[in-house]
Amino acid sequence: KKTIRDIDVAGKRVLVRVDFNVPLDENQRITDDIRITAALPTLRYLLEHGASLILMSHLGRPKGKAVESMRLRPVAQRLSELLQQPVKTTSDCVGAEALFEAQALQPGEVLLLENLRFHKEEEENDPAFARQLAELGDLYVNDAFGTAHRAHASTEGVTHYLPGVAGFLMEKELNYLGSTLENPRHPFKAIVGGAKVSDKIAVLERLIAIADGILIGGGMANTFLKAQGLEIGESLVEDSKLDVARNLMLKASQRGIEFLLPGDVVIADRFAPDANAKVVASQKVPTDWRILDIGPASVEQFARALASAQTIIFNGTLGVAEMPAFAKGTNAVVEILGRRTAEGATTIIGGGDSAAAVEQAGAAQKMSHVSTGGGASLEFLEGKILPGVAALQDR
Ligand code: 3PG
Repeated sequence: KKTIRDIDVAGKRVLVRVDFNVPLDENQRITDDIRITAALPTLRYLLEHGASLILMSHLGRPKGKAVESMRLRPVAQRLSELLQQPVKTTSDCVGAEALFEAQALQPGEVLLLENLRFHKEEEENDPAFARQLAELGDLYVNDAFGTAHRAHASTEGVTHYLPGVAGFLMEKELNYLGSTLENPRHPFKAIVGGAKVSDKIAVLERLIAIADGILIGGGMANTFLKAQGLEIGESLVEDSKLDVARNLMLKASQRGIEFLLPGDVVIADRFAPDANAKVVASQKVPTDWRILDIGPASVEQFARALASAQTIIFNGTLGVAEMPAFAKGTNAVVEILGRRTAEGATTIIGGGDSAAAVEQAGAAQKMSHVSTGGGASLEFLEGKILPGVAALQDR
């Protein structure tokens, strides 16, 4: 894909789609700003090369109406602190005010438009709305990898009026989740967790075809354990996916790759942060207990399986990571990944819950790449073409 390095931006008004869909607490304070900091290299580059910036993003799911709690003002404030310069805002992303503010911009200035999803036309990918957005700038840049799986006016429609190139974050995400995994240094191991097998079937199919080993944890491991005939008590399970699980294990064994299930687990007598908990072998789960994390022996198994890996992808948490008592497996594996990175392995954290766990552990800087995409990184890993990426110009 063409990137901002390939175009001349001096004196231009550059319309940049960013994904500033950040989590806010009840006081509208940003609780995690990685999606803002991750866009800074692109924004700084454009500013240093003489552009003015018209930034556009969605926040939350306001469903086509202006919702006060989903205004982008807190984001503008944080961005202004990070860039150490004023960031102008508008009360609407299109219309007379937006057009006036965009046209008044001087090189080096930054404008952040109000939440795109206050208009239903954004998600409908309405051509007239896309054209209104396009009219605000001279050039279009997409750095919103996290929203690239959506064919919306600001990610796809706009490129019919203003050809687009990728920003540095988009480029980096495509490099790590794309090229690095297509041509991995071997051994290439994938750690896949998360609650449900049904969310991960497509990604497991693809990984089984390209990886040298798959390590399974999280709620979805229960379905695999049950598919092998083990008693899993009251654990979360998808009974309708037992055949799918068996089929995936069969495919892995046919390819001759390792498919590792947790050998021991942390079980609890109820689903609560303060439940009674103990560690048992995966074959020894009592009927009235439930599995909420992988156990210490599983962590050892994982460590051995990852010891020589040169490329590692981690997607989904290995236990109930939002409850400290059941986050130990995930945290231990995050620590192993940090060590392996220092030893030269390429470590890629798929977005969403696993990225949140890595950030919470303060380990983001220790990984080769932490994706800013949740749904987007999963769909991309499945091998799907993302509309927001497809719409950008090729080199
Ligand atoms: C995300 O957080 O995954 C992206 O910003 C996309 O948001 P959406 O799922 O509401 O489209």
